[in-house]
Amino acid sequence: MASSQGSSIWAKHALFEKHSFYLLIGILLVISVGGLVEIVPLFYLKNTIEKVQGMRPYTPLELAGRNIYVREGCYNCHSQMIRPLRDEVERYGHYSLAAESMYDHPFQWGSKRTGPDLARVGGKYSDLWHLEHLHNPRSVVPASIMPSYPWLAQTKLNIKYIQEDLRVQQILGVPYTDEDIERAQQDMRTQASNDPDGADDLQKRYPKAQIRDFDGNPGELTEADALVAYLQMLGTLVDFKLYDNKANVR
Ligand code: HEC
Repeated sequence: MASSQGSSIWAKHALFEKHSFYLLIGILLVISVGGLVEIVPLFYLKNTIEKVQGMRPYTPLELAGRNIYVREGCYNCHSQMIRPLRDEVERYGHYSLAAESMYDHPFQWGSKRTGPDLARVGGKYSDLWHLEHLHNPRSVVPASIMPSYPWLAQTKLNIKYIQEDLRVQQILGVPYTDEDIERAQQDMRTQASNDPDGADDLQKRYPKAQIRDFDGNPGELTEADALVAYLQMLGTLVDFKLYDNKANVR
C-alpha cells in the first residue's frame, strides 16, 4: 500500500526503531521542546504570582502558631490548598490563589487529606471549639481520629526567637519592616490580650489582625494562643467579593 514516497519516510523512521540510542536522543529533543515552551516564558515575566489585595505577612503571633502547626506535623493530615474543582469549592470555599501562600516559607499545601482542608478554616468555629478540639478532638467530633494535643494550652509560648524568625522571613522576601521586627515580641502580647494598648498600631501594620485572648487564659501567652490565632486567620485575608468582581470586569 505504501507509495515509494511514503516508504522512504518509513525507512528514516526505522533508524529510531532499530537504534535505541537515536530513539533516546529523539525523545530528549521532543520533550525539551515541550519543556522550553513552558519554562522559558517564566523568565520574561515580571511576576509569576498575581498580586491580590488583602494579602499581608503573618503577624508574629500567627507566625508562631504556624511554627507550631509545622512542629506538630498537622500538614501530614491537612492540606491548605483548595483546588478549582466543583466538589472542593462547594465544600471548602473559593479555590486557593497562588498569592495566598506567597508569604509561606515553606508552603503548607500538604499532600494528604486524612482530615479536611484548612485553607479557609478561619472564622468557621469559635476559639473555644478549637481549644476543645485540640485538647481532645473526640469531645466535639465523636468519631474523630485526629490526635489530641493537650499540652498546647498548658505550654508557655516561647517568644525568645521571634525576632530572628521574622528576620529570616525578611531575607526570604517577606516584606517585614525593621519596625515590625523590633516590635515582634510586644506585638505578640498585644494580639493575644483582651485589653490591648497599641491595637490600632498593630492593625495598621497588619490589617484584619484579630486581637483577643484566644486561649481563655488572659494571664498567660500559650502555644494554644498562637495556634488558634493562626487557624482563625487562615483564608480570611482576601475579600473574594472584591476579587471576583474585579475578575469579571476584566
Ligand atoms: C492523624 C491525622 C491528623 C493530624 C496529625 C491532625 N489532624 Fe486535624 N483533623 C483530622 C481529622 C480526621 C479531622 C476531621 C474530624 C475532626 O474534626 O476532628 C480533623 C479536623 C481538624 C479541624 C477541623 C476542620 C473542619 O473544617 O472541620 C481542624 C481545625 C484541625 N483538624 C486542626 C489540626 C491541627 C491544628 C493539627 C496539628 C496540631 C491537626 N489538625 C492534626 C486529622 C488530623
